[in-house]
Amino acid sequence: MIDSFHFSSLPEIRFGKGKRNDLPQVVKIYGRNVLLLTGSSSIHYSGHGDEIMSALKGAGINLSHEVIAHEPSPSMVDEIVETYRASDIDVVVAVGGGSVMDAGKAVSAMIPVEGSIRMYLEGLGEKEHPGDKIPFIALPTTSGTGSEMTKNAVISEVGDHGFKKSLRHNNFIPEIAIIDPEMMLSCPTKLTATAGMDAFTQLLESYVSRQANPMTDALALQGLKNIKKYLLRAFLEGENNIEARSGMALAAMFSGITLSHAGLGLVHGFASPLGGYFHIPHGVVCGSMMAPVFAHTIDNLIDQPDNPAMQKLVIVSKVFADFKYKKDLEYLQSFKEKLLHITSLLEVPRLSEYGFGEESIPKIVENTSHKSHPVKLTTEQMEASLRSRI
Ligand SMILES: [Fe+2]
Repeated sequence: MIDSFHFSSLPEIRFGKGKRNDLPQVVKIYGRNVLLLTGSSSIHYSGHGDEIMSALKGAGINLSHEVIAHEPSPSMVDEIVETYRASDIDVVVAVGGGSVMDAGKAVSAMIPVEGSIRMYLEGLGEKEHPGDKIPFIALPTTSGTGSEMTKNAVISEVGDHGFKKSLRHNNFIPEIAIIDPEMMLSCPTKLTATAGMDAFTQLLESYVSRQANPMTDALALQGLKNIKKYLLRAFLEGENNIEARSGMALAAMFSGITLSHAGLGLVHGFASPLGGYFHIPHGVVCGSMMAPVFAHTIDNLIDQPDNPAMQKLVIVSKVFADFKYKKDLEYLQSFKEKLLHITSLLEVPRLSEYGFGEESIPKIVENTSHKSHPVKLTTEQMEASLRSRI
């Protein structure tokens, strides 16, 4: 018997090598006045930035360009929106990593409404967004957040009163996502690692989520198989391995779909306070917390073999195993070790490199939500997970 579930719409997806060349043609569906957002370096290191801009200009597009230098903050979004509110922008195009995708999504949603984005952020503002927006096209240059598939933009303010909150509405799903693995070939090694760990975490958390459904399960499991096959290859040979880049691009895309339908877990619960109080990139939080959180998760579920999340963890453990074992427990143990091994091979930075220390552990634990994690970790387990990454 399959429980009832709900699956909402997706962007029009144009996936494949060279698909970036579709951009001028699809932009014209919406008009000629384009606001292009790019990362400070991504569009240049991809080597395709100039090519994309000249193709747009060559197609008679009026191009305005803004650079997104870091994870979007309320003031950054407000400033860009203020600049373009009266400009008759027909479509917003974001070319870059997760921060650029989120900034583009937020700007496209805020141009038609009055006031600061703060007033519309979940858990912070009091206004409900009406869902009006300018059409939005996403072209990711990293394989990570899957933001090109989701209906929310993550907005951060870092500091003592920092936060990471979402601007969310069903209408904010991008109209079109162009996913071209060639755009990812020159993504720097460190970013390939941390963005890849974000996608890995999103797939695993949504697979074992209490809100998972048969469609998210199918996508998450295939995404996890791609992670096993391609994450390390993209990290080690990313510059010239288009197969690995394609496999990771698909995994990241799937992770965006599964997270928005099945939710996330405790690792992403940690990401809100860690990323709000410290300048720690989101992928570094995921890469850091994945191994300790899932080791405790397996320990806490070990005497519940009939729990659906436990059964899924056995399936994933088998996907990631390099050897054949006789017992499920051996597979689970090998998966715990594998997560630590991947974290170390990918050289995920320690949280202490960003100013996080023992004194901040209680504050982070207190502000961390389990989201849709399949089992609770004790306060001691949460503290130990953080401590293991100082
Ligand atoms: Fe994430």
